[in-house]
Amino acid sequence: MLTRVIGKCMDKLLRWHQKYTNENLKKAFASCGQRVMISPDARIWGTHGITLEDDVIINAFTHIFGAGRVHIGARTLISTGCSIASITHSEQLATRTWGIESPVTIGSDCWLGTGAIILPGVNIGDGSIIGAGAVVTKDIPPGCLAVGVPARVVRKLEL
Ligand SMILES: CC(C)(COP(=O)(O)OP(=O)(O)OC[C@H]1O[C@@H](n2cnc3c(N)ncnc32)[C@H](O)[C@@H]1OP(=O)(O)O)[C@@H](O)C(=O)NCCC(=O)NCCS
Repeated sequence: MLTRVIGKCMDKLLRWHQKYTNENLKKAFASCGQRVMISPDARIWGTHGITLEDDVIINAFTHIFGAGRVHIGARTLISTGCSIASITHSEQLATRTWGIESPVTIGSDCWLGTGAIILPGVNIGDGSIIGAGAVVTKDIPPGCLAVGVPARVVRKLEL
């Protein structure tokens, strides 16, 4: 009985902590729209460089390096385990540890399948879908399905 009560209290405390951390995270972004949902298991760095529009969803185990600027458009869905990086590094050994900023833009109404990797400098057009496990190295036009490593457009979507 006592164990169950303690368990319930711990659950409540954990949920409160997650909500509090989530609200603080949203305040740390350069801007954050309404009804944005971010899993407590997502990891987001460089929050000052990140802008999120309304109704963005970021699922668990997704990792974002935002210091070089990341913009995510309205209603875009980021599945589990994705990676978005806006910082790259030089080939030169003397300067390799210095971060080089390279902004990423993901349009509105996009969907990134689970495990998709978006490399620095990439722009993904509105409404496009990136297949699970894709590595996006170059810009993807709007309204397309892109899959694979490196990601290639395989067809136009009927939106
Ligand atoms: C993007 C996705 C929806 C596309 O599915 P689809 O409509 O069945 O794809 P298509 O039939 O148009 O596929 C076209 C080609 O791309 C290939 N393909 C599809 N998805 C692929 C992927 N993720 N990686 C590599 N190739 C893929 C198909 O095998 C097909 O190749 P073929 O022409 O040689 O047979 C799906 O593959 C996907 O990645 N879904 C993500 C699911 C997910 O992440 N869920 C998490 C919950 S949010």
